[in-house]
This record gives sequence, structure tokens and C-alpha cells, in this order.
Amino acid sequence: MSFFVVQKSEPLKGSVKISGAKNAVLPILCACLLTDEECFVENVPQLSDVFVLIDILKKIGAKAEYNILSESIKIKAENISKDISEEHEAVKLRASFLVMGPLIARTGSARIPLPGGCPIGSRPVDLHLKGFEKLGAKIKQEHGFTEAKGTLKGNHIYLDFPSVGATENIIMAASLAEGETVIENAAVEPEIIDLINFINKMGGNVFSLGNGTIKITGVKKLHGTRHKVIPDRIEAGTFMAAAAVTGGDITIENAVFPHIKPAAAKLEECGIKVENLYNGIRVSYAGKRKAFNIKTMPFPGFPTDMQAVFMSVMALAKGTSIVTETIFENRFLQIDEMKRMGADIKTEGRVAVVEGVKKLTGSRVNAPDLRAGAALVIAALAAEGQTEIGNIYHIERGYSRLDEKLRKLGAKIEKTEERDIENPPQTLL
Ligand code: EPZ
Repeated sequence: MSFFVVQKSEPLKGSVKISGAKNAVLPILCACLLTDEECFVENVPQLSDVFVLIDILKKIGAKAEYNILSESIKIKAENISKDISEEHEAVKLRASFLVMGPLIARTGSARIPLPGGCPIGSRPVDLHLKGFEKLGAKIKQEHGFTEAKGTLKGNHIYLDFPSVGATENIIMAASLAEGETVIENAAVEPEIIDLINFINKMGGNVFSLGNGTIKITGVKKLHGTRHKVIPDRIEAGTFMAAAAVTGGDITIENAVFPHIKPAAAKLEECGIKVENLYNGIRVSYAGKRKAFNIKTMPFPGFPTDMQAVFMSVMALAKGTSIVTETIFENRFLQIDEMKRMGADIKTEGRVAVVEGVKKLTGSRVNAPDLRAGAALVIAALAAEGQTEIGNIYHIERGYSRLDEKLRKLGAKIEKTEERDIENPPQTLL
């Protein structure tokens, strides 16, 4: 079992390059199933979620070769089967449900395990299935599997909620359907736009018309293409929070400013300086950290995936901050662990009230989920003494070489194994 051992760190300094976006690369890898020709995707981050999905695509029959040095992948889905029989694989990864749209579009049917919930919520897929039905698929759910069959025809779909996954699945299904599909109240996150760009490079016909409306005109066939995945805005926000809590001054080389505007606006409210360098952003402490409020919303609102790491900033800000989590029903799992470090946080349903404290104290904590785990790393950088963070496999689902990138900025963080915990690496003492 691996751990992060973190000491109170000096203000972070220097520059860091963030990896390709997890939440863009996962749907794009699924979209490679839409053609029998080879796709070449660059800026594919080394994440356990990516490797699990590649395994699932291979089980479906795709040929995939990942090059760890160039962080690129070649995928050719020439002969694919219609179902994923290994339930455990798919259930491990929610994004595996994104193979459903491409499989129905390409083969006329799909049978995959219903993805389970996860720590942050039940994660239903009703909006995905309603979209497939509107496109003409017959849906059957039994023994923990979902089956969809039919020849797809374009239609008008109004989503009850701008679900990211449902929008992505419907776009992929509709891209090979006969005729035109309009999705209203669609999600328009940067990762959706990256998927749309990828499908259009394959010869697709997908347009985001603004105000949450996406129009897809189905084509007979899509061809292979090359694509470079956008940088990970959530990773960028995580490093922004790290600079804020340590009073640092860092440059995030390839952050796309329009993608992180909500985070930049919140840090400015907090008194942290954020500069748009056009080929990145600079985040610098300006002597104070004031309380601020967050309400998570679909893009372009404040992203739910940055809520936990920004709560680490609030924990050490002067005053009372309020967080309202509107997207997931159980996304405050970082709070109990932060309280073990001395944070003063109270919750009432989906609202958390954070009273800033003068200091946090290192403790032994466990990552409860991906983003809550990242929040504990951020808090530990500023906490007095040493913090040991267990269950870091959660964190490694969505962050590639996080400890390495933080050390490059001066952070005192090491990854170690359980047996070494009694005598942590000398560099930390
Ligand atoms: C994507 O999840 C991201 N994951 C999540 O990132 C992100 O938090 C989320 O979008 C919101 O931005 C990937 O892209 C792989 P949703 P997704 O469908 O598609 C409800 C991370 O930390 N809902 O927009 O599953 C759902 O329960 C992860 O990187 C339905 O009710 O999110 C939730 O309350 C976590 N029915 C809300 O909508 C449905 O059919 C948002 O879900 C689908 C969703």
C-alpha cells in the first residue's frame, strides 16, 4: 500500500507543466470505437483510469499501443464485439459507460455492466439511456447489465440536467445516426468541446451552438485521425490551490486561461494574484488569504472537481467561507480527514461552513476519493509537521506523477510504501 509522506513546505516556486485532461481523454478514447481506422491520440496522461479504459477497449477487440515516453496512443477498432463481459473491469471505471454510445452507433447493439456508484454519489445513467431511446435504441436492464439495440435515427433531446457523460454518450451515438440530432440543456465543459473537435476531425458533423445546444448531423462513416488532448484544467486548479496555501509564486506553463477562469476569479477574491500569460498562468501570493464562497455549477460555473482542493485554501483563509455542492450528493468526504488536521468545518447537507484557522497540524489521514485525496495533499503542504496520506491509489486515478511535479516546485513530499512509514526517507527530515 503506497503512501504520501508530506512535510510543511516552503512557499512553492518555479514552473510546472500539467498533463492531458483525464476527463477529455477518457471519452476521446471511447470515440476511437466509432471508426475501423487507426486513431493517434497525444497528451494521454499516465493515469490508472486511462490504463483501465485501454484494457476495456482491448477486451472489446480494439488494438491499442500506449507509448509511455511520448504519452501517446495508437488505437484501431477494426473488429469489435458488442459487449464487455468482464463486469469487474467496467464497474471499476465509471467512464467505461462511455463505450455504450459508440458501440450502438457502430454495431447496432451494446451490452455492458451498469457502472456502480462511487464514494461521491450514486451516479445514475438514466439520462444516457433516455438519450439512446430517443435515438431509437431499445434498452433492457437485467442481471446488472444494460443492453441497447437498434438502428439509430436523429432526434431532438432535452436533457433534464446538463450531464457531462450523457452529453458525450449521445454525441457519439448521434454522430453515426441517420439524420440530425439536437441536444438541448447539454453540458458544454471544455472536455466536451475537445471530444467534438476530435469527432469533427474524424469527419463528423457536430456543432456547439451556444446556450447548451449541440447539433449533430449523422454521417455514414468516420475515419481515423490524429489529436492532441487539451491540458487538464482540474490539475491546473489543484496547483493553483497549492500555490495559494503555501504562499507561493508558480507558473503553470500550459494552463488554458478560459478553462480555469472560475478558479482564477475565486483566488482573486481570496487575495491571490492570477495572471493570464497566454501560454499558461502565474499564481502568486500577495500577503493575504481572505475567506470566499463557492457554489459548484456546470461549466462555466465553478467546477465540482475543484471544490475539495479549494476547501483546503479556505481552511487557512481569514474568515468564514461557505461551500455549496450542487452537483454530487456526497462530495464532502475530505472534511472528516481535514478536521483531523485541525480544520474547523461544519456541514449541513450540501453546504459546508469553513472557519479559517491559523494553522493545520500534520496527521495520519486517508484519501477517501480522487479529489478529496488531492485536497489532503494540498492541506498537508501547509500543515505543521508531517502528514501521512494513505489510499493514494484514489489520487493516482486522476493525477500523473503529482508528487514529482510538486517536488519540482519545492514541496516536501515523498511516495513511500507502508513498511517504510516508521522511518520516512531522510530527505524529509
Ligand atoms: C464527469 O462525470 C466527470 N468524469 C466528473 O469528474 C465530473 O465531476 C462530472 O462530469 C461533473 O463535471 C468524467 O468526465 C470521467 P455528470 P459524469 O453526468 O459524466 C447526475 C473527477 O473527479 N446524473 O455530469 O458522471 C449525477 O448523479 C470526476 O474527475 C444523473 O442524475 O457527471 C450527478 O449528480 C468525478 N443521471 C450529476 O448528474 C445521469 O444519467 C452530474 O453528473 C447522469 C448524471
